[in-house]
Parts: sequence; structure tokens; C-alpha cells
Amino acid sequence: MPAHNNWIGDDALDKAAPLLKIPKELARLTLNFSGAEYITAVLDQWGIDPEKLQYLGHGAYAQAYWVKNDRKKIIKFTRDSTDAEALMNVLLKPDKSLVKVYKIAKLGPNDVHAILAEKLLQLSGSEKKGWYNFFNYVYYHNISPALYGGVCPEWTEELTDRLKADEIPSDFQKQIKQCVVWGKALESRQIDFFDLHAGNVMKRGRQDVIIELGLATAPHKKIPVITLD
Ligand SMILES: Nc1ncnc2c1ncn2[C@@H]1O[C@H](COP(=O)(O)OP(=O)(O)O)[C@@H](O)[C@H]1O
Ligand SMILES: [Mg+2]
Repeated sequence: MPAHNNWIGDDALDKAAPLLKIPKELARLTLNFSGAEYITAVLDQWGIDPEKLQYLGHGAYAQAYWVKNDRKKIIKFTRDSTDAEALMNVLLKPDKSLVKVYKIAKLGPNDVHAILAEKLLQLSGSEKKGWYNFFNYVYYHNISPALYGGVCPEWTEELTDRLKADEIPSDFQKQIKQCVVWGKALESRQIDFFDLHAGNVMKRGRQDVIIELGLATAPHKKIPVITLD
């Protein structure tokens, strides 16, 4: 059987999405009709009007929608279960440098999780550039978090020491300070997170915030499962 057999074709999506009242692209995420029904079910359980979802963005694993009947929140659907598992730890123990999470649920038997979180703001062009330049620098110079066991104090100590020794441009002082804060926040939750890059940083006011913890390992906390009734 071909691997793509479960994929919803465009014709089928055209028919199914309006019936389920969810965006067509979102129906595609769960890869099958039953998955799309679970999306409708979780929206219903969480009191979100599917017709008020406004697309915000996507990455390799997730799609995020602004919940317009609750202007401060987004709902994200992700195929990366490690993101959901690590964020469950953050839900139980929030930190201002990490996205605030309100609810997480697994969509029945589907390997897709729904995450209700605070709506964060895009970084400005120059803020984004600062992070891009910083990550380019650390990856190019073999001081990426991946080589140090993730975004952890060992990594940020190395960055801080090299900054003090003038081995890293002082332009990156602000980014390194923020990474120290993230390293501590993640360590105290026993989260090993390797995928820190500019696309995973947004802001709340002047606070830079990590928006996702994909490709992470974290203590296993119980995540509710959505059922169809
Ligand atoms: N809390 C949020 N507030 C606003 N937009 C968000 C939020 N979380 C995610 N997004 C949007 O969704 C996109 C994908 O989210 P992300 O969790 O990084 O998915 P992926 O795991 O696919 O990289 C982000 O680039 C951003 O545009
Ligand atoms: Mg991302």
C-alpha cells in the first residue's frame, strides 16, 4: 500500500473542510478524515468557533491559528509530539521566557496535538536579524546548542566565557544573556531542547519568548486525549 494512501486528496478536502467548518489546510494536517473530526471536537470542547480561526503561520510540523473570539490566544496543531510533551511541562510550570500554555490535548489516535497558547508578537526586522546573525555565528563556529546537549547552562556558560574573553562579538551580548535565562528555565524543567533558532523566537512586549519546544526530550506528563462521542 503506498505510504500516501491516507492523505486526503484536494477533491475530498474541498468537500470535507466546509462540512467540518475548519480551514482546508488544517484538515490536511491530520492526514485522514477521522483526524479532521478530532480537530472539530477539540475546538468544540475548548469553546472555539472554527469559523473564527485566522491563519497565523506554520513550520515543518505545526500550523497556528489566531482564535479571534479570544483575541489573546492561538491554537496550534502540531505533528511533533515532543513539542506537546515538553510544553505540557511548561503548562504545569510556566516561565515568562517561555510561551504561556493554557491547554494541550492529543487528537484521539492521531499523532497530532492541539495546543492553546498565548498569542505572541513577531519580532521586528532588526530583532529578527539579531537572532539570525547570532545563530549563524554559533552554528558556523561549532558552538551550537546541539553540540552542548541543547539549550542548557553548559552551552550558555561556554558562550558567556567566550564573550568575556572577546572571542565572540560583543554585538551578541543581548542574545547570550537571553540564552542564559532560557538555559536555566529549561534545565529546571528537565527539558533538553535542541531546536532553538530565530523562527522559534517571538515576543511578549519586550520579552523574547521561545514559542515551541520541538525535537525536545522532557519528563513525561499526562496529556488528555480527545475522544469522539
Ligand atoms: N504563540 C504563538 N503566537 C503567535 N504565532 C505563533 C505562536 N506559535 C506559533 N505561531 C506561528 O506558527 C508558526 C509555526 O509554529 P511552530 O510552533 O514554530 O511550528 P513548527 O514546529 O512547525 O516549527 C510560527 O512560525 C508562528 O508564525
Ligand atoms: Mg518552529
